[in-house]
Amino acid sequence: MSVVDWPALKAAALEVQARAYVPYSNYRVGAALLTAGGEIVTGCNVENATFGATCCAERSAVFAAVAQGYRQFRAVAVATNGEDSGTPCGICRQVLAEFGSDLDVMCFTPEGAEAHYRLSELLPHAFKLK
Ligand code: THU
Repeated sequence: MSVVDWPALKAAALEVQARAYVPYSNYRVGAALLTAGGEIVTGCNVENATFGATCCAERSAVFAAVAQGYRQFRAVAVATNGEDSGTPCGICRQVLAEFGSDLDVMCFTPEGAEAHYRLSELLPHAFKLK
């Protein structure tokens, strides 16, 4: 598998994290997806007054990537804030797994936390229809 340029992916995640729309939680998340071909597609969380219509950063990134024609992904970097890095929520794990469970997932914060996972480790036995 190709080597991941983690610094570039982290920089993209931080850039999009700053654009998160978070008037309710003030919890900013930025996700940068690396496609199999080396492109980077980003997404941030976009909250909504209904709360339920909020979309997480990881799903925003996946949906943007698919809309741009990408369906094969190598890695994702997820930026949050604080002493500990957050991990993708269950729904986002399932959405990421739709396109393959051997994705490298890196969760980090500008404050210095960094954790690496394989998606199959975060979501073993993902639901599949095919
Ligand atoms: N959030 C994400 O963007 N990604 C996750 O994996 C977990 C949660 C967002 C949703 C909401 O805007 C805020 O974080 C607090 O839950």
